[in-house]
Amino acid sequence: MNATINLEKHFPVLLNELVSIISPLYGGTFIDCTFGAGGYSKKILEHNSNNIIALDRDSSVKSIATQLQIKYKKRFKFYNLKFSAIDQIKNENIKGIIFDLGYSLNQILDLNRGLSFKSKGKLDMRMGLNEFSCDEVIKKMSQQNLFKIFKYFGDEKYAKPISKKIVKLRENKKIETQDLVEIIESIKMKKKGKSSSTKIFQALRIFVNKEISELINGLINAYNILPKGGVIVVVTFHSIEDKIVKFFFKEYSEVKNTSRYLPKSTKVKKYFNLEKKKPIIPSYNEIKINPPSRSAKLRFAYKIENGCDFKNFLKNFTYLKDIENLDFDA
Ligand SMILES: C[S@@+](CC[C@H](N)C(=O)[O-])C[C@H]1O[C@@H](n2cnc3c(N)ncnc32)[C@H](O)[C@@H]1O
Repeated sequence: MNATINLEKHFPVLLNELVSIISPLYGGTFIDCTFGAGGYSKKILEHNSNNIIALDRDSSVKSIATQLQIKYKKRFKFYNLKFSAIDQIKNENIKGIIFDLGYSLNQILDLNRGLSFKSKGKLDMRMGLNEFSCDEVIKKMSQQNLFKIFKYFGDEKYAKPISKKIVKLRENKKIETQDLVEIIESIKMKKKGKSSSTKIFQALRIFVNKEISELINGLINAYNILPKGGVIVVVTFHSIEDKIVKFFFKEYSEVKNTSRYLPKSTKVKKYFNLEKKKPIIPSYNEIKINPPSRSAKLRFAYKIENGCDFKNFLKNFTYLKDIENLDFDA
């Protein structure tokens, strides 16, 4: 994947809001789990008491990482790694761990990746370090499993007729990006200003990149390596991601009672301090300059205690992980 990296059009989402959350902790190491075009990393490195450890599953961002390595020397390190493996990072002075989820502008503009419904070629959708591409899923996955992916990862009302049509068409033809768009458009009414393909493309992208397992394991492992007092910040772009992050922070930051008639229990431990229950969203001005930021939601929490087992968190989202583990080679 060798897209030309376009930095001029790149606007890091909710950057000022991120800085105001993490700047009281400046003077240590921050892990940028989703380096991308390096917008967050560059801003944090401007403060010379900060170090950055940056991760990205996409090896094409190495050229940007190399520039930062030359400029900041030991203060910046890059690893081509999925953030679910963040526990491989050893560092004692971690102050904050940041996730800016989803794909970057460069990835969507790289039409060879087939992430955009404007792509002309093969359905690929890999962000990097993947086991398989979308092409294989469309070629081999059973109709019932395609239906589940479209329904649960795309909330697609027309999941059944679309999955049926894919399976029928692939008997005689290799389905490429534009064929998939045509199938969807032949079934769904086009809404003004919105592509009818968005939900199906989102669902396939989540499945191909195992984004649910990445997020769940990434959050748990981030908690495990973060010292007390450190902060986890997550920017999400769709409702499934936000639901997972919201549960992760809320479930372990509130003292719960078994009965509402009993006084507040002190037995249940709190693991996070959640200053804001509601997410931070981009301002009108930010959305005007950078329209894709309109669906962004930022949530953050401070770690206050070690030893959380995350049992409920894992149980609550098993149904999504199970769909991600569906076999298409059966
Ligand atoms: C929205 S962009 C990040 C933009 C970045 N904050 C900036 O300011 O330039 C998301 C990046 O995260 C990477 N990414 C997505 N999922 C990942 C994962 N599970 N592990 C590591 N990197 C991931 C993508 O390859 C992409 O480059």
